[in-house]
Order: sequence, then structure tokens, then C-alpha cells
Amino acid sequence: MAKAEDGTNPEGHIWRIAPTRRDMFGFLGWGGVLTSLGIGSLAFVRFMYPRVLFEPASRYGIGKPVEYGVNSVSEKWIKALRFWLVRFDDRFVALSATCTHLGCTPRYLGTEDKFKCPCHGSGFRGYKGSWKALGVNYEGPAPRPLERYLLATDDTGQLVVDLGKAYRIDKGQADETGAFLPYA
Ligand code: FES
Repeated sequence: MAKAEDGTNPEGHIWRIAPTRRDMFGFLGWGGVLTSLGIGSLAFVRFMYPRVLFEPASRYGIGKPVEYGVNSVSEKWIKALRFWLVRFDDRFVALSATCTHLGCTPRYLGTEDKFKCPCHGSGFRGYKGSWKALGVNYEGPAPRPLERYLLATDDTGQLVVDLGKAYRIDKGQADETGAFLPYA
């Protein structure tokens, strides 16, 4: 069929060979809509799955005070939670079992009343001196005392240790609330 010079055929139909400016605006419009939808969908998915850091729990119930003998070092939690619970006449202290040299786990030697690290020989004082001296480094390469964990009781009177909060007695934190639990 012959095509007239003005782009129409004799029957009046328009021949569309190249996209017109109107088509281009149409494409751009749809492109914008689809892009917006894509971004919106991504934002929705992001909203449904927020980047939350699920950290392990740090607070643990560790039983009633009467379960621990007066003037003793309990090793009950060494394997599971890596601390000793030390009971004095008038208080409890949760002592970290992480050596302050390179992080090995010391052992409590009852006859010598000291915490001895098997890795490089650091020694930390036991409970028989005083509650303030507990865990103080005195031999080997450890640069500072063992840390203490926050200790409290819950509504039922159970002891609760918080391994997420440590106190350093070399920084004068031995007397801070939580660094020990008064109990007579
Ligand atoms: S890790 Fe304990 S003395 Fe080195």
C-alpha cells in the first residue's frame, strides 16, 4: 500500500515507524513508576527484616544464696559460664575465670588459696586475704587482677549474675554497686 509523504496512507491510517516524543514520555513515565515500585518493595522487605543484632543473653540465674557455703570458692559455673562464685562472711563476689594475660582459664588451688593460670603461670589471690584482694595478680605475666561480674538478686531471692557487666578493681571499681552482693 502506498504511503503519502505526510505519513498517512490513502485510507487515512497513520504509519508509525519511529517512536514519537509522546511515546518517549510514556516510556519514561512507566520506567519511573516501575523504579519507584521496586524501591518501595525493597524498603518494605528491609522493614520486615530489620538489621537487629541478636546478642547472647548475659544474665543468668545461679540459684539461692544458701546453696553456697560461707567462705568458699564455688566452681559450679566454671564450665558453663566461666566464673567462680566466692562467698565471704558478708558478701558474694562473681569472679571472672578469664586470665587477664591472654585469656586462658586459671584453676583454683584450694590448698594454696590461689587462682593459677596453666598457660604462663600467672597467679591471682584467693579469698582468704580479703574480699578486696580477691583475684589480684601477684605472679606471672598477667598485667591486672581478674574482673568481677555484676551480681544481684531477683524478686524470688535468686542470685543473678550479669556477664555483660564487669568491674575492674585496678580501676577502683571494687566498691561499686553490683561489683559484689552484700549478704550476711
Ligand atoms: S594466659 Fe594466663 S598467664 Fe598467660
